[in-house]
Amino acid sequence: KSVSSGKTTYKSPSNIALVKYWGKKANQIPANPSISFTLSKCATLTTVSYKKLDEPNTTFSFDIALDGKKEESFKPKISTFFERVYPYFPFLKEYHFEIETSNSFPHSSGIASSASGMSALALCLMELERNLNPDMTEDYFNQKASFLARLGSGSAARSIKGSIVQWGEHAEIEGSSNLYGIEYPHKIHSIFQNYCDTILLVDKGQKQVSSTVGHDLMHGHPFAEQRFNQAHENLSKLETVFAEGNLDGFISIVESEALTLHAMMMASQPYFILMKPNTLEIINKIWEFRETSKTHVCFTLDAGANVHVLYPENEKSQVQKFIEDELSPYCQGEQFIHDHVGNGAEKI
Ligand code: PMV
Repeated sequence: KSVSSGKTTYKSPSNIALVKYWGKKANQIPANPSISFTLSKCATLTTVSYKKLDEPNTTFSFDIALDGKKEESFKPKISTFFERVYPYFPFLKEYHFEIETSNSFPHSSGIASSASGMSALALCLMELERNLNPDMTEDYFNQKASFLARLGSGSAARSIKGSIVQWGEHAEIEGSSNLYGIEYPHKIHSIFQNYCDTILLVDKGQKQVSSTVGHDLMHGHPFAEQRFNQAHENLSKLETVFAEGNLDGFISIVESEALTLHAMMMASQPYFILMKPNTLEIINKIWEFRETSKTHVCFTLDAGANVHVLYPENEKSQVQKFIEDELSPYCQGEQFIHDHVGNGAEKI
């Protein structure tokens, strides 16, 4: 089928890893498997308009705008993405693309927009492919979207679907793949279905270490092999934790994963400390509150200073009051975002 022009819009969420992806091989193959909660409110909205060129181009033809303003600084990243997906999208040089994108969370909040942004873009390109090949199955569509998103940013492979997505080969997870994320195929207790995540904006500055540099630090890292094995073990342990709704088991795996991610960066060469004093203040406050309130609030971290506060929906009123009263003073501009587990990307 020939398609001369069209327009497609997707809203794709961010995700927060429970078992972290840190370290990769060539072609965006993860060094270890990971698993995440798909988020809901933290999302990127992307519209791609495409128009067939009279003659196929020798390079990729596109413009990109953020919040309605042309954003030249995004171009190299998008060019790299197009370069990587071109072998799977041979028609890419036959079109001109206008990409318009906006995030639901404040710009430069320190919240990574690469997972939501790259998955939204991958989905828009898949929609063009579906126009060209209308009889592809829904499963093929989602799998290839995740595959393409991975080539943009590894963690983006986990943003297509919800509510818990696993990416990277693991012996006990049937269907797991290094090439794309899958919906976690084992039993998930209802307590995890609507889990809450409040993101505390501790440091809104530019990331001190890009994730590309961070993943590279795992090459030749003295603890790399142990760490990759640990990720496999934690993923195995999560199976009964998820099935039984074992919140204490959940907390101990998730917090250890976050601290290990940071420990890897402290133990690499060169070394980095990505937490800020307020990150530690918040962690201590969470531990104190968990002890006294008997709630199941816990934390996880990305490769930065912001804190994700995780808690079950039935403890929401108590924990959110604690966050608003006691944790918000440690946030930049007292800013935080109440989010929760979601169902994946949506076509708009
Ligand atoms: O998707 P990337 O290459 O930006 O890597 C993300 C890595 C972490 O966010 C630190 C962990 C993860 O699994 O999402």
